[in-house]
Amino acid sequence: MSSVTELGYVGLTVSDAEAWKRFGTDVVGLELVEGEEDDRFYFRMDYWHHRFVIHPGDSDDIAYAGWRVADEDALEAILARLDGAGHAYRRASPEEAAERRVLSLVKFEDPSGNPVELFHSPLIEAHLPFHPGRRMHGRFVTGNQGLGHILIQADDPVASQRFYSLLGLKGAVQYHLQSPKGTVYPVFMHCNDRQHSLAFGVNGPSRLNHMMLEYSELDDLGLAHDIVRQQGIDVALQLGKHSNDAALTFYFMTPSGWAMELGWGGGKALEQQQYHLRDIFGHGVEVSGNMDVQL
Ligand SMILES: [Fe+2]
Repeated sequence: MSSVTELGYVGLTVSDAEAWKRFGTDVVGLELVEGEEDDRFYFRMDYWHHRFVIHPGDSDDIAYAGWRVADEDALEAILARLDGAGHAYRRASPEEAAERRVLSLVKFEDPSGNPVELFHSPLIEAHLPFHPGRRMHGRFVTGNQGLGHILIQADDPVASQRFYSLLGLKGAVQYHLQSPKGTVYPVFMHCNDRQHSLAFGVNGPSRLNHMMLEYSELDDLGLAHDIVRQQGIDVALQLGKHSNDAALTFYFMTPSGWAMELGWGGGKALEQQQYHLRDIFGHGVEVSGNMDVQL
């Protein structure tokens, strides 16, 4: 069955562009690309033209998530499944595709109204090696695992799981977690080796609860942690290790008020689903906000 192959890019609307330029480079280590268009800037994390499109605006949230497919055949196969489910979509114009630096682009919304894009053939700048925004020991884990994962709003997790299954993502409820609001049942879905590229089932004030990026070297996670502490950035969840992806991570607040999860050592997606009651260790709540669940 044709499937999306990775979370390829993410668009963000941000209310403080200058804060984001400093945050993306100095704290996270992303490469800033600006000057190509007046109304946006980009962050790179590998050879792709961009992994993040930052749109300065009045709000702070995810603007769209771009899911890659292998080629036109795979795209058409997924669109046929959307047709069968009666889910509307729009084939974007060549100009819109060029705007994203891809060769083919389709736009729609998921059942909760989160903007989704399907694309194939991103622009890979093989002549421009990634140049981190600050010193790094290693690199970001991307390759066939995509840019990382996102946890987004889902009004009806069952409907969302059914919808994302149409795109080829696989997954299940992987935790029964106690929270101040009662037990929550988050769903995690994968489309490649990364244990999950998408999660939902924990709703907060914004569409985007958090985004996770992974370093290839433990020392880069330690360096990021030092920088976050030195800058006095609010840490939402302290260092800890998830039971499902086994990644060592911590969560801290971005200039947009949603959380960034940085990690190292994430495990691969399992063939068979399983669920957990808590993490292996850590992830204690330090500054609650949109992250009042240890996830
Ligand atoms: Fe996460």
